[in-house]
Amino acid sequence: MFYHVKELQFNARVSKPDPAFASLLLEQFGGPNGELAAAMQYFTQAFAMRQPHPDKYDMLMDIATEEFSHLEIVGATIQMLLGPINGELKDAADKAEIMQLLDGKDKKESFIHSAMMNPQLLVLSGGGPTVTNSQGVPWSGTYVNANGDPTVDLRSNIAAESRAKIVYEYLMQFTDDPYVKETLNFLMTREVAHHQMFEAALSTIQPNFPPGVLQGDPRYSNSYFNLSNGADAKGPWNEGKSPGLGETWQYVEDPFKHVVESNGMVDHGPRGTDRTQESVEKKDKEMSKERSQQVKKAVPSGENQWCEYPQNGQ
Ligand SMILES: [Fe+2]
Repeated sequence: MFYHVKELQFNARVSKPDPAFASLLLEQFGGPNGELAAAMQYFTQAFAMRQPHPDKYDMLMDIATEEFSHLEIVGATIQMLLGPINGELKDAADKAEIMQLLDGKDKKESFIHSAMMNPQLLVLSGGGPTVTNSQGVPWSGTYVNANGDPTVDLRSNIAAESRAKIVYEYLMQFTDDPYVKETLNFLMTREVAHHQMFEAALSTIQPNFPPGVLQGDPRYSNSYFNLSNGADAKGPWNEGKSPGLGETWQYVEDPFKHVVESNGMVDHGPRGTDRTQESVEKKDKEMSKERSQQVKKAVPSGENQWCEYPQNGQ
């Protein structure tokens, strides 16, 4: 059940209208890394997480709801940045001069420019936010990643928070309004907070690498193919120990020769690892049993009820 609280989570303010920045800020309203995408992603993921991991369900629903609160803040800011435009467009019979509201030639030019850059925002929506990115491309469900596995979904969320954070960081360069900067700083910082929440939640699931259940074939888990000519870079991605499995990276200097000699990798035995095909099979079986039991135990086979009234007998 959702319940609307009239107060915004953060006191969004603007010093003056700025339609050009309103248009840019749409990126965080209906863009791929925006608040609606984040809200819908965590909301959608939460359902499959519910019965095996009620604690993660609780966290995802809380963060999804906070993202909806951020969508509200972004929408409110866009509306305030559009200033009197919606009202002026209503003055159609009198052919009001929107331009007169914007003081000075520079402002007029910037307004005309923003109308041309994203005509949907001003001409189609009549001066309110649209569920699009800053270029007028409609929001899409393809922005939502939900794969029904907490070790996958939580990683998607860490990546989503990183992208949302950097978009706010870039947006802050395009406004000099101290109130708008204050709001963007709050929203950006909440992405930093969420990033850490997802990391902490991921670490409570052990083991969590590789994501999912199957362990990965030890013949192929640590080879680095040198697939370019010229000077080759070396680093912890191709020398020393691999960070997830702790295996020794195998640098394949001449991949073409290697592929031919190993009969297309079929005869490439495991190296740089203690894992064997037998140990992997054993682990796959253990993990399959553990992870499927976890879900099956939590899901009743017959009658099912999502929640109790009231929750926790309060
Ligand atoms: Fe977030």
